[in-house]
Amino acid sequence: MTARTSLTIVLAAGEGTRMRSSIPKVLHPVAGQSMLAHVLGASPSGAGAALAVVIGPDHQPVAAEIRRLRPDATTFIQRERLGTAHAVLAAREAIIGGADDLLVVFGDTPLISAATFERLRAALKNGAALAVLGFRAADPTGYGRLLVEGGELRAIREHADASPAERAITLCNAGVMAFDGHRALQIIEKIGNSNSKAEYYLVDAVAIVRELGWETAVIETSGEEVRGINTKAQLAEAEQIMQARLRTAALEAGVTMIAPETIYLAADTTFGNDVTIEPFVVIGPGVSISDGAVIHSFSHIVQSSIGRNASVGPYARLRPGTLLGDGAKIGNFVETKAAVLEAGVKVNHLSYIGDAHIGANTNIGAGSITCNYDGFSKHRTTIGVGAFIGTNSSLVAPVKIGNAAYVGSGSVITRDVPDNALAVERGQQTNREGGAARYREMKTRGEPKQG
Ligand code: UD1
Ligand code: CA
Repeated sequence: MTARTSLTIVLAAGEGTRMRSSIPKVLHPVAGQSMLAHVLGASPSGAGAALAVVIGPDHQPVAAEIRRLRPDATTFIQRERLGTAHAVLAAREAIIGGADDLLVVFGDTPLISAATFERLRAALKNGAALAVLGFRAADPTGYGRLLVEGGELRAIREHADASPAERAITLCNAGVMAFDGHRALQIIEKIGNSNSKAEYYLVDAVAIVRELGWETAVIETSGEEVRGINTKAQLAEAEQIMQARLRTAALEAGVTMIAPETIYLAADTTFGNDVTIEPFVVIGPGVSISDGAVIHSFSHIVQSSIGRNASVGPYARLRPGTLLGDGAKIGNFVETKAAVLEAGVKVNHLSYIGDAHIGANTNIGAGSITCNYDGFSKHRTTIGVGAFIGTNSSLVAPVKIGNAAYVGSGSVITRDVPDNALAVERGQQTNREGGAARYREMKTRGEPKQG
């Protein structure tokens, strides 16, 4: 037995089964990350592991996602959708070099773990030409069935081609396979397309390996880990499984969640110590929550960083680019976007703060708005340290409010306010003595009595 070190991974991410969507299947998100990102995150990487990804034509967004995640990957285009074996052969150039192992991975199995890939590779060590990953499915509809005879895997039959007896088999093909890299091309090139869909099925590699007199191996794993996502319903199931994993991990990390089943997390959410998340909070990708922060109910947070002991919500919406300093407070019905709120800033009620920088300890009164958009472009609002923005003010950007400046309630601020200045912009108030009584009399005169 010789050591197997070099590895080629072929990730089939082209046009497989469709999900009735204009978005390529592998870009559909699970817990805020594309399925592709999940699979790549679990796939072996590092020295000796070359990654080849097969994508469909016109799949620029998929190519961009691969570049973002793994700039070292080589991308191959499968021009026609002719099946999983055809997809793998699109990466022939990557396979022909003959690394020790060839791992074939599908882009639509987002729940798979790194350990499973390792187990599969380990199964090649005793000389098998092919190791297949199997799982028991309560409902095996749609999956390829593993035909095992006398303890040995003889073939895999796709659901569409299976006999009623074969359809009763619950041991299914997960899709992931490990080939002996030196024999892989020879095997996969023999695969034909004589089946009901006239597709080149990678699963036929099993029967070919047997015909060539070589060994196959089967590794079993849980169905929860390898369910392939072909439909929106399966996508929703995968989300539930992933959310359950993330909630458990957050609880284990010390996050307080009294109703974890109502809280949605992203795969990359990070938490400090003593974080509390109240029920019904949705956290999207790119969120970090520091020590002691509290996220109150019904808040929605994406691509934001929340400082120590900060408080968010209830009913707050933090959009991308929100940076909350330590002890900052975002209250109910407040929306922020591309906004830095330094330590101790308070925006307690009914505000929109966008494209803004707010200095430490500034207080933004209820209903105040940064008017960042003039219908053509976005403009910035800068507010100094220790300033006070009175209730219901409109700050028409671009505008700067100085340190310790004070803006009177209801002002529409269109010019910069210097440090320590008091800015008030509002119409003169007139009081008419007895005017209310005269008004009521006028409205009721000659009108029929109520009731
Ligand atoms: C496949 C397996 C099936 C297994 C199931 C597990 C085959 C023939 N069938 O079926 O045995 O139980 O996965 O989830 O392998 N793809 C391409 N180009 C193609 C076709 C597919 O790149 O021409 C990619 C897809 O993006 C997808 C993966 O290959 O990520 C699997 O394709 P899909 O159509 O989903 O295969 P299934 O019918 O689910
Ligand atoms: Ca699939």
